[in-house]
Amino acid sequence: METNQNRMYLLLVAVVAALGGFLFGFDTAVIAGTLPYLQPHFDLSDFQLGLAVSSILVGCMVGVLAAGKPGDLFGRRPLLGIAAILFMISALGTALASSLWMFVVFRFIGGLAVGAASMLSPMYIAEISPAKHRGALVSLNQLTIVMGILAAFLTNYLLSGTGDHNWRYMLGVETIPALIFLVALQFVPESPRWLVLMKKNPEAFRILSIINGKDQALQELREIEMSVADTGESGYGELFRGRVRYFLVIGVVLAVFQQITGINTIMYYAPVIFQKTGLGADTALLQTLAVGGVNFLFTLVAIRFIDRVGRKLLLIIGSVGMTISLAGLSVAFFLEQFEGYLVLFFILLYIASFASSLGPVVWVVIAEIFPNRLRSKAVSLSIEALWFACFIVALTFPVLLSSAGGGYTFVLFAGICILNLLFIYKFVPETKGKSLEEIERQLLGEE
Ligand code: BGC
Repeated sequence: METNQNRMYLLLVAVVAALGGFLFGFDTAVIAGTLPYLQPHFDLSDFQLGLAVSSILVGCMVGVLAAGKPGDLFGRRPLLGIAAILFMISALGTALASSLWMFVVFRFIGGLAVGAASMLSPMYIAEISPAKHRGALVSLNQLTIVMGILAAFLTNYLLSGTGDHNWRYMLGVETIPALIFLVALQFVPESPRWLVLMKKNPEAFRILSIINGKDQALQELREIEMSVADTGESGYGELFRGRVRYFLVIGVVLAVFQQITGINTIMYYAPVIFQKTGLGADTALLQTLAVGGVNFLFTLVAIRFIDRVGRKLLLIIGSVGMTISLAGLSVAFFLEQFEGYLVLFFILLYIASFASSLGPVVWVVIAEIFPNRLRSKAVSLSIEALWFACFIVALTFPVLLSSAGGGYTFVLFAGICILNLLFIYKFVPETKGKSLEEIERQLLGEE
């Protein structure tokens, strides 16, 4: 029987793991507020500025791939610990940087940490969670990503008046949450599913009992043992065969859609978009707060509903909302309808739609649809695709916006949203309420 104590323990463990998401959000967002000071300090050309911003994304791509195999060999927890240490090194290194190159190298190291945490935190939470709360608990990671983004905007704002070295403080302050993450990780257990893979079944049973109570734990342990036993290969080659390959394609395409439907054009470039509409820079803070606030609130909506209405319905409703808002934005730009708050309204509708669907749910589904023995590698490949798509969108959006204009740019993203909707409707399986082993049997069984 699950007790309140079990539930509290589980929630605490999930929150600790989700600190990885907080650092992910903070690290990717902190750069924006430092740019106005970094540029004159290092006398950066446009290209060098791009390098300072995008070096983290290159680090992410390396970090995700690098974490896949060691995640299987050494466990999820030690690797999260290494990510925490890399977050600290990067925060201190960029804060103390005396040259552009030093800055770029330490941002790259931060990227390694973001990449590793972005795959390990949701996967770890999925692996410790009982079926009926798994969607909500994995979505906590998205909530902390959003909180990390907000925290970075807030600390940037508060530290902007601290003189010539303000950008150093903005970057260095991340050492504190990274240290908290490292310390807190010492108190969480290893993933029971990984322990069974390593044949440490008694330890896995002990952890499952604390989370689910003894009876349920025994049943879960048997299921995990079966899923690990009837396997065979667990190398990378196995990912590209039969049903596993089919679900790898679903994981990768879903990850890519999460990015190419345009979320980070708004997250990274909202001020530029607002400027195009003629709004002054002074309202930037207000808009940023509105975007962050809506993002946070609607992630809570997803957490509330994901284990009740399921993953697929949330994804479908959200994708419809995203399509409508992007189409609206496109029309506003074509007709140059910039009076009042129309553009802001469509942007907030878009954020609300993303936050209650693709934002959290894509991470959840990717953490769920792969078999135990291949999960770490398959998740890492899917998230790799996500970062690559993020990189391409971040790189091309400014050019697209200035050459094609807002109308065509947003109509393109609306079109991609429709493809995303069709893809979800046709291919994404519903995983609500099933144990990871049930999902595995269902997805791999039906040839
Ligand atoms: C995405 C990030 C995005 C964030 C915004 C995440 O799920 O992967 O790219 O910046 O949501 O809330």
